Amino acid sequence: MTSVVIFGASGDLTKRKLIPALFSLYSKGRLADDVRIVGYARRPYSDDAFRERMGEGVADRAAFAAFAQRLFYVRGDLDTRDDYRKLDVRLRELENGGADRLYYFSVAPRFYEPIVAHLGACDIAVESDGFRRAVIEKPFGRDLASARSLNDKIQNVFAESQVYRIDHYLGKETSQNILFFRFGNTVFEPLWNRNYVDHVQITVAESVDVGHRAGYYDSAGVVRDMFQNHLLQLLSLIAMEPPASFDADSVRNEKTKLLSAVQPIAPADTVRAQYHGYTEAEGVAEGSQTATYGAMKLDIDNWRWQGVPFYLRSGKALADKVSEILIHFRKPPHVMFPLPEGGVVRNNYLAICVQPDEGMHLRFETKVPDTASELRSVDMEFHYADDFDGIAIPGAYERLLLDALQGDASLFLRRDGIELSWQIMDPVIESWASKDAPPLAGYERGSFGPSQADALLARDGRAWERGCGVH
Ligand code: BG6
Repeated sequence: MTSVVIFGASGDLTKRKLIPALFSLYSKGRLADDVRIVGYARRPYSDDAFRERMGEGVADRAAFAAFAQRLFYVRGDLDTRDDYRKLDVRLRELENGGADRLYYFSVAPRFYEPIVAHLGACDIAVESDGFRRAVIEKPFGRDLASARSLNDKIQNVFAESQVYRIDHYLGKETSQNILFFRFGNTVFEPLWNRNYVDHVQITVAESVDVGHRAGYYDSAGVVRDMFQNHLLQLLSLIAMEPPASFDADSVRNEKTKLLSAVQPIAPADTVRAQYHGYTEAEGVAEGSQTATYGAMKLDIDNWRWQGVPFYLRSGKALADKVSEILIHFRKPPHVMFPLPEGGVVRNNYLAICVQPDEGMHLRFETKVPDTASELRSVDMEFHYADDFDGIAIPGAYERLLLDALQGDASLFLRRDGIELSWQIMDPVIESWASKDAPPLAGYERGSFGPSQADALLARDGRAWERGCGVH
């Protein structure tokens, strides 16, 4: 039997993501019959009240009611040792003998250390009668020092192999596909290097503003919130070497190797910006200088990528919600066609559309019919919705929860990866907070960011492009 214990069960993440993901796994017959889900939080729910709350808004009442029989609730405080003992007693009753346990930390980061310490002190992290795994959400520290210290505390209680650190971008179907696309085909990988790639653009844009999370966001900012984790993970998948096999350590070794080749980012290669009206949001400090948008250029100093810039950008309150990666290939070395006046040969790109219109576009040049030598860019498109009609793309948490239950850590972050990511981003965060910080640019809500971000690429004779969406 397996108990999935969710700390912070009355919170937003549990209701919006975790329970729906578990329900979906259940509905697909992928949740083993003996998996029980035990919510733990301070609110005084009974098992039934918890079941009811988790089922609110679910369309298929009958199916949820059957699934809900696996939900239980224990009322407890995250910082009270005795409550953990009570939790253990209840778990033992439900488990009726030995069982595996997945402890899911769906709580504010300040509770990570206390939870780990209490689990350790109550001896309920010991793998005496089944596995004990800790699934921990981001943010994983605020900088390298705090991430190290948190890792140390966790490792006082859990071995690294028991720790599953989540970056939900890795659970997205399209992120998972990057390695399958790169290493399951022969067409592109030979081009995937400095000889053919001119540069790479990674865009993770959001149309939402900081909303009700302003309190957290104002002390985090876009680099901690998005770059240190999601953008660097996308970068690793795009740029890493092929692992020898698809097991968790081989994959993570390659990611670590890649991240360790990322060069220090010069402040002049970064742009920080804030959308107009941000400081009026409740929870934002007066005169806050927090960046809600960032753009930066990264260099990877290794055999494959030497001299190929990677441009990353992310922000809130932008025109669209879109995450995409553009691999821009070099232009042909020589154009032999007599182009019409003003005619150009554009470079090819491959656009990996992470979301929302999941798929890929390959842009290439084609002769315009009925012209002598006019070229135009056309798109070869793959959309999941067309090619996998009838297979809905699952939410990221479904894959991650299933993998954590099955002990596959490939899509989870290892300690060294997290620490390296902070090592890359800490200097950016520090430089943005220093007196020599690049000026904080402003941008309109609903725009595509500040002009300074365009200038960052224009300086190198390049421009941001959008490759995804139905053309
Ligand atoms: C989270 C960030 O990690 O990712 C949020 O904290 C952000 O600020 C979210 O909105 C974006 O995730 P997705 O899956 O909606 O692109």
